[in-house]
Amino acid sequence: MSPEDASAELLEMAQLAPVIPVIVIHDLAHAKPLARALVAGGLPMLEVTLRSPAALPAIAEMAQVPGAIAGAGTVLAPSQLEQVAQAGGRFAVSPGSTPKLLDNAACQDLPLLPGAATASEAMALLERGYCLQKFFPAEASGGAQALGSFAAPLPQIQFCPTGGVSLDNAPAYLRLSNVTCVGGSWVAPKDLMAAGEWDQIAELAAKTVALLAPQRTA
Ligand code: 3PG
Repeated sequence: MSPEDASAELLEMAQLAPVIPVIVIHDLAHAKPLARALVAGGLPMLEVTLRSPAALPAIAEMAQVPGAIAGAGTVLAPSQLEQVAQAGGRFAVSPGSTPKLLDNAACQDLPLLPGAATASEAMALLERGYCLQKFFPAEASGGAQALGSFAAPLPQIQFCPTGGVSLDNAPAYLRLSNVTCVGGSWVAPKDLMAAGEWDQIAELAAKTVALLAPQRTA
């Protein structure tokens, strides 16, 4: 898939909700109830980080949940793109980008959301055709103020800032003209998952959507 097509496809998905939950699954039994809770709360795009052995099977389980758009985060190696697609994942997110990963992504059907933290990194991805990028690590890289400064010189690029984003600071990002949505782990808290508090997670997602959806400008 061309980077242009990948960004266009991801832009459509990213417009569905103001937040992409960043999820770490250790217990495969959590995958389906978590996906159901987040979808019920209005967050359909689910980024399962490839940081645990359960991640790929979890993507396969979540992909079966009606309304869920399951994909992978922490994609570092080209070979993982194929694994994610085989598991039924609909997208891949990388914290950065490497020439190998980008070359491989161009040969796969899976859309990639590559990461950038600086203007030069964002420009290099734009040269390839990526007009939707992850801004990572968002808070440590200067936060909304830094990302907002990209808007004037790089108006062609939309971002999904992730890393240190919370319910408190998300509005500042979402008000930027170059932010489509944010990513964050706060909507899938470890303690609520461990306790099986799926209704509470659904409530947290719904509260997040209610608070953040009106803040979006892009
Ligand atoms: C990550 O890769 O862990 C994401 O950027 C999520 O970061 P967060 O836990 O700060 O939301």
